[in-house]
Amino acid sequence: MKHWGRDILLTRRGLIAGAAGLLVAQAANARTIATPRQTSGPFYPLIKPLDADADLTLLKGATGPAKGEAIEITGKISALNGSPLEGAVVEIWQADANGRYDHFLDFGSGRDENFQGYGAVRADSSGAYRFRTIRPRFYSTGIGVRTPHVHFRVVAEPQGELVTQMYFPGEELNEKDVLLKGLESDAARAAVTARAETGDVPRYAFDLVLG
Ligand SMILES: [Fe+2]
Repeated sequence: MKHWGRDILLTRRGLIAGAAGLLVAQAANARTIATPRQTSGPFYPLIKPLDADADLTLLKGATGPAKGEAIEITGKISALNGSPLEGAVVEIWQADANGRYDHFLDFGSGRDENFQGYGAVRADSSGAYRFRTIRPRFYSTGIGVRTPHVHFRVVAEPQGELVTQMYFPGEELNEKDVLLKGLESDAARAAVTARAETGDVPRYAFDLVLG
């Protein structure tokens, strides 16, 4: 019986290993499509804040940390052939915990003045980048509700510029967001939706592929 049990265990391990292999293969396939481009929206900062580092939760000179749920966003910047794009400039900008942007075109009230709102880093030798920020709140616009999202602009040579937006998995409002729903396929929507990972704080993995 011991052998029988061991065989079953090995078989199950084999199945698990096989399933894991399939997931890896699917992930590899998913990476071969270029990340879809999306509008930069009206709130890209024309004047960059003096503090534009990778931690958007702590703004120099602020009276305290930013409001909201602290999160990490990590990922890799790569070319279509899978090679990492070392030195790529990665910029993010987003709404705060009240759904407000640090931008003169955002006429809403209640902006969190302790939130940095924008950050920029360079991808390391493996194409990796990392930000600490807060989960943005949804907001309403002329085109309807915008589900929580983070804007990205990546610049690399010789690929050039990619502007897109990152979405949160499992977010109910994703179903109501016309920009997300307007993408051409489920694969495109998957490519702009981060993967949730566990960490000291909620972590979202978001890889970007420049075509
Ligand atoms: Fe936005």
